[in-house]
Amino acid sequence: MNSKQFMKAVGSTRYLPITHPESLLDLEIEKPVPTGHDILVMIKAISVNPADLGVREKHNYEEESPKILGWDAAGIVEQVGPECELFKPGDEVFYAGSAVRPGANSEFHLVDERIVGNKPKSLDFAQAAALPLTSITAWEGLFDCLEISHNQEKNSDKSILIIGAAGGVGSITTQLAKLSGLTVIGTASRPESIQWTKDHGADFTINHNKSFVPQLKNIGFETVDYIFCLNDTVQHLKNMSEVIIPRGKICSIVPANKTWTGSLEMDLLFSKSVTFVWELMFTRSMFQTKDMIQQHHLLNKLS
Ligand SMILES: NC(=O)c1ccc[n+]([C@@H]2O[C@H](COP(=O)([O-])OP(=O)(O)OC[C@H]3O[C@@H](n4cnc5c(N)ncnc54)[C@H](OP(=O)(O)O)[C@@H]3O)[C@@H](O)[C@H]2O)c1
Repeated sequence: MNSKQFMKAVGSTRYLPITHPESLLDLEIEKPVPTGHDILVMIKAISVNPADLGVREKHNYEEESPKILGWDAAGIVEQVGPECELFKPGDEVFYAGSAVRPGANSEFHLVDERIVGNKPKSLDFAQAAALPLTSITAWEGLFDCLEISHNQEKNSDKSILIIGAAGGVGSITTQLAKLSGLTVIGTASRPESIQWTKDHGADFTINHNKSFVPQLKNIGFETVDYIFCLNDTVQHLKNMSEVIIPRGKICSIVPANKTWTGSLEMDLLFSKSVTFVWELMFTRSMFQTKDMIQQHHLLNKLS
């Protein structure tokens, strides 16, 4: 007897322009079964990130089996693997998933429970699915990479510059940084994005298309204690080196090769003994790090 079950999914075999009728295909694929630490989630909502666009970037080859995108999801646990301890069938969850496994654009999806959180009760599934990828990035960048304290009193005289503050990651970062008691300066270039950044709690905004030094001086800052770069790292490295406090910390989430504007001149940070750290929110799941359960904990704190 064949006990295989099937499910619907959306995926691609060729990397075609999104307007091409075959860029995203409706598929019928085998429904997976959870093993080990995996849970099987009935997907209720997904969201789209620059990560999906990155994976869909032009490649000239054809995949042997369809690539399923979708690295942000919310749903209901259907089944759990034998080693699972954190969830049971019926639990409502949200998560980003792993970049080295299929995405969540399918009826059911396997994910390691250690990178899954309990869905916020105050949000519906669609709202919850918009949160994990950006929030994990913001949380790990601020608290793990920049090692910012959660204690508001410790941060009362500290400032952070968030480059690209009105974007998906920036909007969450601004709120978490404010909750941690930091003075937040966000960069934004348009009236709508300036207003959006202020609405999320930024104390000040400056324009990322102009030199940072005079703009910061105008609002009373010679330097900032932390910088979180959420856009072109190469474009902003000189600006960042000029305004970071000596022995300060910079974290970036955008690799230099992404923007093709050149390579990183790290010597610019030498005289100030600046700490520079990368954040990739997929690292823990990609390398199955010993502390990958931290993503479960941080998503629950976020909820
Ligand atoms: N490493 C990781 O784990 C990780 C995780 C998530 C995202 N990412 C990457 O991080 C980047 C941001 O992601 P996101 O989801 O926040 O993107 P997003 O929502 O598309 O970001 C849009 C924002 O970027 C700002 N922006 C445009 N040009 C800029 C420039 N030259 N300098 C500074 N800001 C600029 C815009 O501000 P204005 O409209 O005001 O100009 C806009 O508000 C993407 O490249 C994404 O691939 C990395």
